[in-house]
Amino acid sequence: MKKVRKAVIPAAGFGTRFLPATKAMPKEMLPVVDKPIIQYVVEEAIEAGIEQVILVTGWHKRAIEDHFDKHFELEARLEKDGKMEMLEEVQRISELANFVYVRQKEALGNGHALLVAREIVGDEPVVMLWGDDFVAAKPSRTRQMIDAYEKYGTSILSGIRTTNPEDTKKYGYVGGKKIDEGVIDVSQFIEKPGPGKAPSDLAVVSGFLFTPDIFDALERAIPDTIDKGKELYYVDGVNNMMKDGKKVHAIEIKNGKYYDCGSKIGYLKTVIDHGLMHEDVNSELRDYLKGLDL
Ligand code: UTP
Repeated sequence: MKKVRKAVIPAAGFGTRFLPATKAMPKEMLPVVDKPIIQYVVEEAIEAGIEQVILVTGWHKRAIEDHFDKHFELEARLEKDGKMEMLEEVQRISELANFVYVRQKEALGNGHALLVAREIVGDEPVVMLWGDDFVAAKPSRTRQMIDAYEKYGTSILSGIRTTNPEDTKKYGYVGGKKIDEGVIDVSQFIEKPGPGKAPSDLAVVSGFLFTPDIFDALERAIPDTIDKGKELYYVDGVNNMMKDGKKVHAIEIKNGKYYDCGSKIGYLKTVIDHGLMHEDVNSELRDYLKGLDL
């Protein structure tokens, strides 16, 4: 079994749910207190042992590439001003990982974003994480997926349990046989099934680990999607893989909290939660929230 070394983070979408904020600014760069969303995602991957982070960006996403690059002028200024802690933090960001950037020339869907990284990934298993949401979990979501992959040798979808009917309009749901505590051998994967139609309460929110079979499976979905003017979603690839008899497992992320920063309300909740955990601002924020006349 090949070691999981690479992660693809698609970050080339338009972020229409967040307009006008995202007209000139990538939604992946929106700050959660003092770090952009995508940095949480990259740090999760690195902590789980990922060696190479492949960021899928576009012409309107330069700020992401710059964020993970060196900034000589800023570093010189921080050093001159004796702001050594901040200097270390800024340098740490550019040294976080071995970054590779690939551009998706047109936003043709999140499955297409994975496909443009095909040559860089090669014939290896790969983790895919969205650039606009994250899961705080112990062990991390990526680590839990890698552990499951090492146990079962299959592609892994990760998710959370939810019985909120509204979620059935937003996420993909899996159905299948339970083979272990919190592990499903997937036979059905339905994107946005709608209220009352989900095959289980396990919603695949974000976070996937694919065997290289995903690439041919995605390619095969192009005639029915992109060629017909529709977006190519990763779900199309997963369904094609299952049709080929390739096994896919879904795991429930343990000890985790999902932060969906791609929507306005999800983003606001994430900022409040992280503000309440952040040592610089937590007590003042708590007092402020308590004092609100709601
Ligand atoms: P979303 O499904 O949230 O898509 O993408 P989006 O288009 O950015 O957002 P809305 O729905 O219009 O508000 C999940 C992740 O996949 C990336 C996005 O940048 C985001 O990080 N993505 C999506 C791509 O890289 N390329 C695409 O063609 C679509």
